[in-house]
Formats: sequence, C-alpha cells, structure tokens
Amino acid sequence: MLLEVKQLGIAYGRRPPVVRDVSFTLDAGEVLAIVGESGSGKTTIIRSIMHILPGGGHIAEGTVFFQGEDTRAQSPARHRELCGPDVAMIFQDCGAMMNPIRSIGRQFRDYLSIHGVKNPAEAHALMTSMLAMVRLPDPERILKSYPFELSGGMRQRVGIAFAMALRPKLLLADEPTSALDVTTQAQIVKEMMDAARSVNTAILIVTHNLGVAAYMADRILVMKDGRPVEYGPAEDVIYRPQTDYTRRLLAAVPGPGGLS
Ligand SMILES: Nc1ncnc2c1ncn2[C@@H]1O[C@H](COP(=O)(O)OP(=O)(O)OP(=O)(O)O)[C@@H](O)[C@H]1O
Ligand SMILES: [Mg+2]
Repeated sequence: MLLEVKQLGIAYGRRPPVVRDVSFTLDAGEVLAIVGESGSGKTTIIRSIMHILPGGGHIAEGTVFFQGEDTRAQSPARHRELCGPDVAMIFQDCGAMMNPIRSIGRQFRDYLSIHGVKNPAEAHALMTSMLAMVRLPDPERILKSYPFELSGGMRQRVGIAFAMALRPKLLLADEPTSALDVTTQAQIVKEMMDAARSVNTAILIVTHNLGVAAYMADRILVMKDGRPVEYGPAEDVIYRPQTDYTRRLLAAVPGPGGLS
C-alpha cells in the first residue's frame, strides 16, 4: 500500500473540521480522482497529504500513512525530504509556482540539483527528455524561455515535466487542466497519464470534471460539503451512481469530450 488515508478530518485554525470521515487507499501506479462541487474540500484533502495546508490548516482526526510511515509523526524536514523524489505536486496554474525572472532551464536545473542530480550533462539530458515526453516542441528553446513567454498549456506541460523528472511514487494534481481549453485539457491529461504509467507513479487528482475522472481514474471519491458521498471503482460511480448528487455532477459533464 502506497497511501492509506483513514477517517481523515481536517480543520483550519481552531474552527471545526471542514473535512471529515475521509478514507481511501492508493496502490503503486493507481489513479484516484477526487470530484465534487466548489468548497467540498478537495484541495484541502490533497494538501493535507503533504502537510502543506495554508492558514493554520491541520489534520485534526484520523491518519495518513505514506509508504507505511505515519505522516503526522513526521517532522517538517521529513516532509520536505519526501517532496520531489517521492511525492510531486502539479497545481492549477503551474506558472504561478515558477519564478518569473528565471529561465525554465535554470529553475529546472536548480530543482534537479537540490534533489541530487548535479552532473550538468546528466541534468540536461533529463530535462530535454522530460520536455519531449510531455510533447513540448524544441526543448532547447523551452529551456531558454521565461515562464511568461509560454502559453498556459505549455506551462502546465513544463509543470508535469518538473513533477515527473524524479520519478515520484505519488503525484498529487489539483485541477491541473481546468484553466485550459477542452482540447488542450485532453492532451495534457493523456500526457500526464503516459508519464505516470512509464514509471508506475500513482496519481491523486482533483478535478471538477467527471469526464476527466472517468477517463483517468481507477477509483473515484465524490465529496460534498467536506464529507465523502461516494467512493468506489470508477465504473461503478459513473455507471451506477448511488446518490442524486453524483448524478447531478454527471449531468453537468459536457457531451463531446465528456462521457457521451
Ligand atoms: N486557508 C483557508 N482558511 C480557512 N478555511 C479554508 C481555507 N482554505 C479552504 N478553506 C475552507 O475549507 C473548505 C474546503 O475548501 P477547499 O478549497 O478544500 O475546496 P475545494 O473542493 O478545493 O473547492 P474548489 O473546487 O473551489 O477548488 C471550504 O469551506 C473553505 O472555505
Ligand atoms: Mg480546490
């Protein structure tokens, strides 16, 4: 078992928990999608896995085990150590996470260097192969570019290349494609899946789009108001939804490119 989340409850500051009773597991190479309306607690759950909650957010109940280690018992230094080589994150707007005044290549090199890839030739080969894997044309040019010189879709691809470069065991992705047009969304989801499959990375993806979840996920967790309302194999959730809430989410999936 790679990740085991049991009866998780998460609170911000001293307020009552905004997320409760969340349990799920993830094996190596598996994909779990968390879906649900805005404010249902998706981002809160995904950030709690790596203890990067803002605003005094913390795990108030339950446990998160990653590779058999209780993450609540880990020090912040241990969390940082795991981020990158073991667990990587992709955000909705990867550009916002990048330094605007440093080239992609410089940032990529620094990231690899921090995590032990210090040989320049080795780093360069890894960077260009990762950029090619996410189908960015002319990797040499991309490395020389600054984030503002790339389109939103290109920046998300760069984000995936960074995240996958260290062959993480777990990839946490929070709405990685929702800022993009539908065609680019589909391409990027596919590239993320291909990259993950090639190194057997498990994915925990948050998405509004049940179409994306149906395409990617082995299992789906449906959240509403901080509580799980459905959890099971993607096929069951999509074709035999147990709640009206899930049926409403399904009805909101656009036709072409969606489920029909
Ligand atoms: N920094 C914070 N401080 C206090 N409360 C927060 C904070 N971030 C989120 N919350 C609260 O936690 C709950 C869940 O929010 P969260 O961002 O996890 O939802 P979400 O499902 O990711 O929504 P969206 O689809 O809009 O991204 C909400 O009630 C929200 O107000
Ligand atoms: Mg969110």
